[in-house]
Amino acid sequence: MHIRNLAGIPYAELRFSLGKYVTDALAVRLHSLDYCDMDERSQAHGLQSAQSANISERKAEHVRYALVSPNPASGASWWDDIDLIHEPLPEFDAANFDPRVQFLGREIGLPLLISSMTGGHPDAEHINRQLGALAERNNIPIGLGSMRAMIVDPRLMRSYAVVREYAPSAFVLGNIGAPQLVPQGRKPALLVREIRTALDHVGASALIVHLNFAQESVQPGGDLNAAGVIEAIDRLVGTIGLPVIVKETGAGLSARSAQRLSDIGVVALDVGGSGGTSMTWIEGQRAAARGDTLLATLGATFASWGNPTPAAVRMVRRSGPTVIASGGIRNGLDAAKAIALGANLTGMARPFLEAAVAGDEALATVVDCFRHELSVAAFLTGSPDIESLRQAPFVAHGRTRTWIDAADRLAAIG
Ligand SMILES: Cc1cc2nc3c(=O)[nH]c(=O)nc-3n(C[C@H](O)[C@H](O)[C@H](O)COP(=O)(O)O)c2cc1C
Repeated sequence: MHIRNLAGIPYAELRFSLGKYVTDALAVRLHSLDYCDMDERSQAHGLQSAQSANISERKAEHVRYALVSPNPASGASWWDDIDLIHEPLPEFDAANFDPRVQFLGREIGLPLLISSMTGGHPDAEHINRQLGALAERNNIPIGLGSMRAMIVDPRLMRSYAVVREYAPSAFVLGNIGAPQLVPQGRKPALLVREIRTALDHVGASALIVHLNFAQESVQPGGDLNAAGVIEAIDRLVGTIGLPVIVKETGAGLSARSAQRLSDIGVVALDVGGSGGTSMTWIEGQRAAARGDTLLATLGATFASWGNPTPAAVRMVRRSGPTVIASGGIRNGLDAAKAIALGANLTGMARPFLEAAVAGDEALATVVDCFRHELSVAAFLTGSPDIESLRQAPFVAHGRTRTWIDAADRLAAIG
């Protein structure tokens, strides 16, 4: 088998142990999201199997393009427009700053999530092993990449399951795309029991449902049926048996979506705002490489589409669920600003991906720097813990301020 490689990852590390993790369906008695009869399902699954190689290839390309610089939206300019007010008399010993937070009933070491990225292709196993070990060492939660690939082709399971192996006590979050919860043309919706089985195999502590209709709009054959998604998430919340989190993937949650998701019992919202990795830009680059001018143009046009992360935090912060700020968070100071805007914790994807490719030392440095930057920002705003940091005063300038004002108005309307 020919296996492509990312910079510096030994091929020997990338081999699958095929068959070892092949699914033996667990008996989970759940209501299902049946939309078609079994003949139709197996036929459609045949189609899906044929697509398995495509999904795997696409996942590998996402990783490759996410690492390309300059990704036009990979900077974090929105955060540059926010200043925290300096407090010259912090009145506590900096050594006593407490960075721990409660996340879904458990204490975690830092307000930092390793955002969902990868799984389902050979390179993913090595990356996920490193990220899993990092999560375990620092007692921080880690999101898996979309599990659709392993549901369609169980041989890909190892690249996900390796996270739990290396993070036996960390909060591991399974991940599935909202578009896969409803039928897409001839492709049937995933069943609750398929998702539940996948969650069991990876030892997930909770499920993230990701919203990515901006990305799907620029993807060849993208899944664009969004009808029934909220009802499908509602059914998942009621039947999956684990807490359900909903996230955007770079275009940002809105006040309206946050309220609807809160109303159906979603426990945490990850705003996934614009200003960080742009999946529309990545899809545009993939299209350009294939010579698909239309989708390449769409990708470029919509590269910066979406609600900026600071504004998305303002829109969702009072909706009820725990708020995770992600999308363009690049260090502990950005995180401190996001928390001052109202987030409970923050998430980063690309910085971890870059560091994973560079090696374990680089990964440890990302977290160490984050911890120190966050501590200094907290000390210099007079915030002895994360709850106090949430009250820290800030000033917003320029376009970010315009967005924040609009977000606050939208959140007030509800
Ligand atoms: C290579 C790559 C793959 C991703 N795959 C997923 C995914 O499978 N599921 C998901 O919910 N988000 C996925 N994301 C989105 C991230 O979780 C995150 O929302 C986004 O990258 C913004 O964070 P960042 O600016 O720190 O990179 C992916 C991001 C990257 C870079």
